[in-house]
Amino acid sequence: MKTLTISDIEQLKQQGKKFSCITAYDATFAGVISDAGVDMILVGDSLGNVIQGQKTTVPVTIEDMEYHITCVARGNKRCLIVGDMPYMSYATPEQAYHTAALIMQAGAHMVKLEGGDWLHDTIEGLTQRGIPVCAHLGLTPQSVDALGGFKVQGRDSKQAKQMLADAKALEQAGARMLVLECVPQALAKQIAESLTIPVMGIGAGVDVDGQVLVLHDMLGISPFQAKFVRNFMADAKGDIKAAFELYHSEVRAKNFPAAEHSFD
Ligand code: KIV
Ligand code: NA
Repeated sequence: MKTLTISDIEQLKQQGKKFSCITAYDATFAGVISDAGVDMILVGDSLGNVIQGQKTTVPVTIEDMEYHITCVARGNKRCLIVGDMPYMSYATPEQAYHTAALIMQAGAHMVKLEGGDWLHDTIEGLTQRGIPVCAHLGLTPQSVDALGGFKVQGRDSKQAKQMLADAKALEQAGARMLVLECVPQALAKQIAESLTIPVMGIGAGVDVDGQVLVLHDMLGISPFQAKFVRNFMADAKGDIKAAFELYHSEVRAKNFPAAEHSFD
């Protein structure tokens, strides 16, 4: 089976078709997510929360990421795999090159890192070296202590302007994709429309180009359900593969996220 590439995801944006992504951390779920027709898998550092039981993603190491990416890559059949660069593993461009090599060699097709325009040189350098980069703005969980908790980002106009400027700068630097997490729907729409690269949202409303959810959240087995999460497992009557298929079709049909899952 042919694996989806970043070019395929770019084409979906051009065609106005929404793409779907679910996080996974092991081979079995990667296989079922693939079989369900989901476009992408993110091996997120959210594994700190849902696999390791940590309170934040800060304790996650490069070795943790490599282990789970290798597991996912073995079970994957057709999804584009994005691997997170963990906490403080890309503080300088040189560190980022080293980390990205490990993430790619573990089996990711693209690396993801969190932050704004300070990452310009890092993203440019990775891009020049042939590594596709996904940027991540809005609620960036690795900075939770600086942000003062897990809250919606970009609500005041100064913050919103900065986020739009950061998004443009990251695209300019060579980023091939952008994640927006917990961002007001109207701002996320504006950013997605201002960029050529695909923008994937989580708690960012329906007007971005694709959606991502954490596996355990969308299966309804996380300790609490955030506003932006829908329990697809319940809606699919307890069948895991059907939950993934429903998620994919609801994203494609622009039925998820609904207004109740979005922030203003
Ligand atoms: O680690 C993760 O799962 C993520 C998504 C929430 C975007 O970064
Ligand atoms: Na992450």
